[in-house]
Amino acid sequence: MTTTAGPDLDTALLEARQRYAESRPVTARMHEEACEVMPGGNTRTVLYHGPFPLRMARGWGSRLVDVDGFEYVDMLGEYTAGLYGHSQQAILDAVRRAMDDGLSLAGHNVYESRLARLLVERNPALELVRFTNSGTEANLMAVSLARVVTGRPAIAVVYGGYHGGLMYFGGGGSPVNAPYETVLVTFNDIEGSRAALRAQADRLAAVVVEPVLGSAGCIPADPAYLTMLREETESLGMLLIFDEVMTSRLSPQGAGAAYGITPDLMTLGKYLGGGLSFGAFGGRADLMRRFDPTAPDALPHAGTFNNNVLTMAAGVAGLTEVLSDERIDDLNARGDRLRDGLNEVVPSYGWVATGSGSMVGLHPVSGPVTCPQDLADADDRLRELLFLDLLERGYYMARRGFIALSLEITDQDVGGFIDAVRDSLATRS
Ligand SMILES: Cc1ncc(COP(=O)(O)O)c(C=O)c1O
Repeated sequence: MTTTAGPDLDTALLEARQRYAESRPVTARMHEEACEVMPGGNTRTVLYHGPFPLRMARGWGSRLVDVDGFEYVDMLGEYTAGLYGHSQQAILDAVRRAMDDGLSLAGHNVYESRLARLLVERNPALELVRFTNSGTEANLMAVSLARVVTGRPAIAVVYGGYHGGLMYFGGGGSPVNAPYETVLVTFNDIEGSRAALRAQADRLAAVVVEPVLGSAGCIPADPAYLTMLREETESLGMLLIFDEVMTSRLSPQGAGAAYGITPDLMTLGKYLGGGLSFGAFGGRADLMRRFDPTAPDALPHAGTFNNNVLTMAAGVAGLTEVLSDERIDDLNARGDRLRDGLNEVVPSYGWVATGSGSMVGLHPVSGPVTCPQDLADADDRLRELLFLDLLERGYYMARRGFIALSLEITDQDVGGFIDAVRDSLATRS
């Protein structure tokens, strides 16, 4: 049995889009108004989808309501940044307390070193850390540091990898990428990647990789692949940078630690700022000390909001009052149950669920999926149809089939989601 194909699929999609559009007059009007002042009415490309994107009015716990009043179970969890859910009381209280003491104080504040200490104590790879405003910025800083300390210009990244708006390597690379020279390797291709690193060794400053690809399809690394990267980077004099902006949620110490691999530098982001804008980069003390302002040849690292009190306070509250090792393990076990449950249902319709723990990918291919190129033949119309079907059934995930569970998602939500996916695929087959 396979899902609808050819003209039937086009008709089904047209009808689903029509139902979506006709039932959302407020969303449509607000989108038109936004288009008058923003290109495509949009300021964050990933959120755009046809015929016009959802516009959320509010959220609480694991629920979202759009401006037309439709309620959804939030299976997207703000692309992993929403791990705490939408109204975690301890975090809201911490933000309110910080606000009472004033915003933008133009000085070191009482929160930043507490958050830094919490992160350093959690992550074995993190001896020293600095904050940024986003994961993108964190990766740019880590790569820039690697280029300075090695004196080499280029970085190696995996084809399809995503490390932020200026470091996206789908289709070979985005035209708006930061102008770093790059060498593309194929994720999980041990011998091909090894050969590429050796061949380009004298110009490569670092390898940047996620231990589990997130935006590129939720694809876990083969442990042997990360071991090879660790050994080769060390022997070839380049740095290994783990981008754990998404994957730090996959174990109490992060995904790299769960694989037993310590990178030279790592980057963090998303939920660790308690749901506010956040990024961090850090790692080996000898490398990070280059940013010590008391050093004679100190590297500059600026950023008005690097230590903004709201993010710092929310991050501290999240890690001290909400998250525990047990809760992280529970969350990832729930994600494993979701993926396993989906994989009992979707393969008979030509789909597969991928990922690790609380990060799940849902793809219209039969698998196996070991690198982003394995998704090249996926019919994007099927993704859109499932996305629209799930909205009608009250579930919100990314249009591209990305799911990130929050602490607020229950086993009942997981069961309901699997039923909704089954219902959609069965209806369409
Ligand atoms: C792996 C990875 N790195 C970096 C980023 C960029 O983070 P930000 O959106 O905070 O700039 C993202 C965002 O999705 C990401 O998934």
